[in-house]
Parts: sequence; C-alpha cells; structure tokens
Amino acid sequence: MADISAARGAALAQIEAADSLESIAALDTQLLGKKGSIAQLKTKLGGLATVDEKKAAGQAVNEAMQAVSSALAARRVELGTAATAARVEAERLDLTEFAVKPERGHAHLVTQSWERLEDVFIGLGFQVAEGPEVETDWHNFEALNMPIGHPARGEWDTLFLDHAAPGEDVGRTVLRTHTSPVQIRTMLSGMPPIYIVAPGRVFRRDTPDATHMPVFHQIEGLVVDRDITMADLAGTIEAFTKAFFGADFSSRLRPSYFPFTEPSAEFDIQRPDGSWLELGGCGMVHPNVLRHGGIDPEEWSGFAFGFGIDRMAVMRHDVADIRDMFVNDIRFAEQF
Ligand code: PHE
Repeated sequence: MADISAARGAALAQIEAADSLESIAALDTQLLGKKGSIAQLKTKLGGLATVDEKKAAGQAVNEAMQAVSSALAARRVELGTAATAARVEAERLDLTEFAVKPERGHAHLVTQSWERLEDVFIGLGFQVAEGPEVETDWHNFEALNMPIGHPARGEWDTLFLDHAAPGEDVGRTVLRTHTSPVQIRTMLSGMPPIYIVAPGRVFRRDTPDATHMPVFHQIEGLVVDRDITMADLAGTIEAFTKAFFGADFSSRLRPSYFPFTEPSAEFDIQRPDGSWLELGGCGMVHPNVLRHGGIDPEEWSGFAFGFGIDRMAVMRHDVADIRDMFVNDIRFAEQF
C-alpha cells in the first residue's frame, strides 16, 4: 500500500511540474501505460497473502490510476488555456497604436475670404463665373474700352507673355491684370439678365512690399439687365457691405474714373468707429463694353464692381504685411 501511495504521489508531482502540453502527452503514456510505475504494481498484487489485501490493494491501484488520469486531464486543460492565452497575446493586433489623429489643417485666409464672398453674393442672387488667368490683350484691355495706346493701360504694370513684333505696340497674351475680362467672357457666353461674381487671381509687375504683391486676388461683379441704374449699384454695394461686414457697417460711392465704366466710382465702407476704408472700384458698364460683349446698350444696362480679396482680408484681420498672405508660413496661416 505504501508503494502505491508513493508511486501515486510521485506521479502527481510529475504532472504538477509539467510545463508544456508535450510533456503532458509524454507523461500520459509513461504513467498510464502498461509499463507505468502504478501499472507495474498491479503485477505484484498476485503476491499478496489474502483476498482482502488483494482487493484493497487493487482498489488503491485503480484509485491511483484514476487520480493520475484526472490530474493529467486537469493539467492539460490548464496548460492549454495558458498556451492559447499566450498565442492570443502574441498575435494581438493593437489597432489603437496608429489611431493618433493626424492634425487637420484648414483653408488659407485668402481661400476663406474668397469662399465667404461667394457665399454672400450667392445669397444676394448672383452666380459664380470664372475666366482664365492667361488672357488675350483684347479681353483684358481692348474690349474693356482701352484700345492699344490708351493712356489708362499705363496704370497697369502688365506682364505680357509674348513679345511685340516690330511695329506692334504690345504683345497679344497677358497675365490678366484684373478680373474685369470675365465681364466680356460672360457677356459673350450668353444673353442677359446677367448676375455674376468672378473671384480669381490677377497679376501685375509689382515689387513685393508691405502693401503690394505681383500676384493677388480680386472679385469682380457684373449685372446686366433691363433698366439697371446707379441706384441698383449703390443698393447692391450697401447690401453686400452689411451682409459681409455686419449691420453696423455702411458704404458710400465716390466719383472716380475707369475706362470701362461710366459713370465710375470708388466704393468705401464705413466702420462702426466712423472711419472710412476704400474697398474697390465700380460703375455703370460703358456702352462700348456692352457692345464688345455682344449686348445692345439701347436695350440693356448694367453695373460692375471689383475689389481685392487679399486686401480686404488684410484689413479685416489687421495683417501688417500683405506678403504674409503669400509666403505660406504656417505660424501665420495657423492664426486664422
Ligand atoms: N478692374 C478694376 C481694377 O482692377 C476694378 C473695377 C472693376 C472697376 C469693375 C470698375 C468696375 O482696378
């Protein structure tokens, strides 16, 4: 009996010490097989003296086998669970590891102003039009009542893309000096009524300084309809001023001159503190301009306006140097 319980104890200790499913499998054959230490004891039962002794020892051997068998099963489950857990841990995909959100940027101040202007004018019933940044001399000047040799051309430091042939006054292709050529393109592309705004990039041969850039942005407005008067122009400018800047802003027109409008005006806005700010040019579309656009000035009339987008953003946000709007310094851009 002592042998049996010693063999049983030893077997259970071995099972307890097993640290892998492989060693459990090995112990299974070793301990429960015919050659196992406990099974070997069975062969000695015949040597016992009495039937009772045989019976008791037989029972003890069976119980030991049973105990070893269930210890093996229990340890197998234990090690199996641990192995699965280890594998799961090893193969785990940590999806949170790359979940750091990239920092989101935002539109540049010029783009923001451009889009807000579009929104305001769309709210006033205008459509958005556009034209090419590389223009013909005809669209940029001639059709706008500035024939070759017209002194007003001198006000624009034009960037020509081709050379004038000997005997010719100017080249034929320019980087547009203003968005006004879109007036001509719009008139030529359809009949009135026309209610459009045309934001875009324009170019002049300027040396960059705090208030000048050779590249900047304008927004053009053009209305052509029956019986359009200067009062419609003044009313539209006033409605725009209040919608864009706020109800406590107002506007005024000041007589001025542009070859493509007659009469012409500069428009200013008045800030709540009473100070005035010049914003852009405007006027009634000149009859020659309507004609170049294929529109009969006896039947239709219209007004146009144009102003600088960057300039307005600079004033609105108190930017000291307009060059900051173009150099793309993130420390500047981030502030708006
Ligand atoms: N094109 C003019 C400029 O660039 C502005 C303007 C547009 C004036 C429309 C009158 C009418 O200065």
